[in-house]
Amino acid sequence: MVPDSAAPVAGPAPSYVRGPAAPFLGSLPVDRPMAVYDLAGSIAHVQMLGTVGLLTSAEVGTLVGGLRTIGREVANGAFPWRPELEDVHTNVEVRLTELVGPVAGKLHTGRSRNDQVALDERLYLRDAVRRIAGRLVDLEEALLARAQEEAGTPMPGYTHLQRAQPVTVGHHLLAHFWRFDRDLDRLFATAGRADVSPLGAGALAGSTLPLDPEETARRLAFPAAFENSLDAVSDRDPLVELVFDLALVAVHASGLGEEVVLFASREFSFLERSGALGSGSSLMPHKRNPDVAELVRGRTGRAVGALVALLTVLKGLPLAYDRDLQEDKAPVLEAVATVDGSIAALVPLVRALAFDRARLEAAAADPEMLATDLAEGLVAHGVPFREAHELVRAAVVAAAAPPAGSPPPLRVTAPSGGPPIELPLDARAAVGRRVSPGGPGPKALAVQLGRARHRLNGRQASLSSLAAKVEQIEELVNEGPT
Ligand code: ARG
Repeated sequence: MVPDSAAPVAGPAPSYVRGPAAPFLGSLPVDRPMAVYDLAGSIAHVQMLGTVGLLTSAEVGTLVGGLRTIGREVANGAFPWRPELEDVHTNVEVRLTELVGPVAGKLHTGRSRNDQVALDERLYLRDAVRRIAGRLVDLEEALLARAQEEAGTPMPGYTHLQRAQPVTVGHHLLAHFWRFDRDLDRLFATAGRADVSPLGAGALAGSTLPLDPEETARRLAFPAAFENSLDAVSDRDPLVELVFDLALVAVHASGLGEEVVLFASREFSFLERSGALGSGSSLMPHKRNPDVAELVRGRTGRAVGALVALLTVLKGLPLAYDRDLQEDKAPVLEAVATVDGSIAALVPLVRALAFDRARLEAAAADPEMLATDLAEGLVAHGVPFREAHELVRAAVVAAAAPPAGSPPPLRVTAPSGGPPIELPLDARAAVGRRVSPGGPGPKALAVQLGRARHRLNGRQASLSSLAAKVEQIEELVNEGPT
């Protein structure tokens, strides 16, 4: 029999979640992962109520003990989740009543699910940033290690996906490093701006009770509490920023994925088609497909879609809490899970990339790739760059004319006469000539590698301090002082 989804719920549901629409109103599938943050918020709230004299120390002890029991039940899978209780907050409160009796009714003193959910989300964000930033640090580590190994391996650099000028594999990999490094910067900044506790804002207008929001903030490792209760319960900016940051991580990851797909194709053959790239075909016995990189590329849509979904939920909402806000969690969880999975898959992929050095170097020695160097050589003879550009362009066209044989070296004569200037078809020498800062030349690349290492050390330090805050929350739930 198909159950009537509109039937009123039975059981221990409190009055505010009873009613025919209850199944439609529920958010348990998306807010269950918030349980640990919800418990931490409740423990800090109860402790604050004790400090300001609204609860006795015996009551604080009983409530905190009950909340920690729930923490253990959630962790070991024994917690009796009840979808008819709408959300994680009510599930915890009802269970607390079962465990400690009527004193549980004091938990919600001076608190609303509105400031509660806003708090849970900020604690979740902190943890999510820690998780994703940890992955990105691993990815940076892998890119940097590979860049060091391939620092001197020449490869063609592309614009418009046309061969342009020689670079090195190390320089190319570091370009990806810096993209992900900006992502880390954004994520840490997002976590920093989110570090404001909304607890104590109540439903929207604070409380007649002498609450101390700064005290709960401190217990939850927030440097500050909210300034405005209306803003505190409705502000979802941190989540939007997080999902934007993640969407951009996904876009950056998809760019790297695309290059792996391209460079592993027979046409490029810059990468060996090893098993690390993915799997085979169920039909074509010869196939080695770069599935991992393709899926990293393909899943980007989920993160970008999440950003659009979240912004659309928020658009036009009046202050303060509106039930629409419940719809904020699904896109956030989706973006976090997607990016977490993609970056986790990219790390071993990057570590295993097997470059065909000989092929890369031969491709980088294409005479056309030296055309700009030749024009710059004329500049050194006092020829204005525009004129040099035209002269070399004519030489390139002439060199392309011979129907057979290997291409002749590119050669051009300065208008003032003298012997023709010619460049050997040597990609290493071409890369070696590049002296400008931030370029692929050996000196500049050594500087860049050093700076990347320094930056990565800084990121690791930021990650450790964020991890310490997350651990403080876990300790509060597991065993901290009552
Ligand atoms: N489940 C709700 C959410 O995720 C919690 C807040 C409910 N507040 C309310 N006034 N109904 O947003």
